[in-house]
Amino acid sequence: MSRVAIIGAGAMGAGIAQVAAQHGWDVHLQDVNDDVVSDAIAGIGRRLDRLVEKDRISAEDAAAAADRLQVVGDAFPDCELVIEAIVEDLDAKADVLGAILSQLNADAIVATNTSSLSVSDLGDRLGIGNRCCGMHFFNPAPIMKLVEIVRGRDTDEAVLDRVAEIAGDWGKQVARCADTPGFIVNRVARPYYLEAFRIVEEGMAGPDDIDATMKLLGGFRMGPMELTDFIGHDVNTATTRTVWNQWEQPDRLAPSWLQESLVAEGHLGRKSGRGIYDHAGDTPRCVVQVATPRPEIPADVRAAASTFTSAATDVEHDDDQAVIFARILGALINEATWAAHDGVASEADIDTAVRYGVNYPRGLFEWRNAIGAKPVEALLAAMDAWSEDHRFQAAPSTA
Ligand SMILES: NC(=O)c1ccc[n+]([C@@H]2O[C@H](COP(=O)([O-])OP(=O)(O)OC[C@H]3O[C@@H](n4cnc5c(N)ncnc54)[C@H](O)[C@@H]3O)[C@@H](O)[C@H]2O)c1
Repeated sequence: MSRVAIIGAGAMGAGIAQVAAQHGWDVHLQDVNDDVVSDAIAGIGRRLDRLVEKDRISAEDAAAAADRLQVVGDAFPDCELVIEAIVEDLDAKADVLGAILSQLNADAIVATNTSSLSVSDLGDRLGIGNRCCGMHFFNPAPIMKLVEIVRGRDTDEAVLDRVAEIAGDWGKQVARCADTPGFIVNRVARPYYLEAFRIVEEGMAGPDDIDATMKLLGGFRMGPMELTDFIGHDVNTATTRTVWNQWEQPDRLAPSWLQESLVAEGHLGRKSGRGIYDHAGDTPRCVVQVATPRPEIPADVRAAASTFTSAATDVEHDDDQAVIFARILGALINEATWAAHDGVASEADIDTAVRYGVNYPRGLFEWRNAIGAKPVEALLAAMDAWSEDHRFQAAPSTA
């Protein structure tokens, strides 16, 4: 039987444990104390029961998955893979993994679920860079389809192949990437939120118009404003700051003062009852004021946005919707192109990552190819000339 050890039985560790157990793996769970693990196993049991009630899995499969979960103390017999999902702290991760290394088989693969720490640094600290990599699941792990497989400086290709194979066997889509800040999704998706906030800050449009436009024209499941309310502005701004700082503060990824002021005022989104929207009633009500006066949009921006948006969608739209949509999708495509240029991942892997990590309706390169290079270049050039910063500076082509 294949066996995985999961260290850390919090939100992510428990979710990953459920995924592995449902796909036939024997799971050994460890946390700071065994009660945390017992609670996590009970929580997984309840989730499996709900899947049975909804007819998603059979009662036999649920029972078999639950039977595969066990608490481990300090022994890790024959685990092919260890996935670490404890607190986001390099010292803590190195200490915990260092303490169990001698219990593991000499060829066991050690994967970390870190979102923001260097996989290479962890491998170096452990002295096992060749068999250490990232396995970055998304929350909630049983539902989100993507796993980013992160290649450390010294990770063996065979290790990455095996981890990708395991993630695939667990029903996941795999995107391979380099050990760079934010990996793929946490970097490439940033302009979806940031450009939307800039549109509100400037007074060009309100949050509800932006949300409606992105859903209607692009088929996005949630608009950027409602999505940040859902994620939580504290979590979303913290990721922005981390990625922006780690990439040496490019204008493209700079935090939004409006979003940071929401955090300072305690308006964190749904979890605090209020963010961009007030969530007290049955229907969320927009409570963020749009700046005035409304900016004059240059004719060349309108023209470029109209060409771009008409090539990107068949949905009928007005001129303002074309500009909103082109700014946000154009910024996303440009960030994806910069990421490919920076060696983060291939275009195909970036497309897989945004489709399954943030559920975009299309891959960003797929969209760029449908729009065509010229309309994308024209939009970026017009926006770059209009913007006061360099956030629309076009990435060197990776074609
Ligand atoms: N929550 C997310 O959305 C998300 C998504 C992707 C990746 N991650 C990453 O996954 C990791 C875990 O995040 P989480 O949201 O599950 O956190 P969490 O706080 O829910 O769980 C962390 C668990 O680790 C345990 N722990 C702490 N120190 C430990 C130790 N020394 N030994 C064993 N267990 C220990 C805690 O008791 C807790 O149960 C972090 O690296 C985080 O960055 C989180």
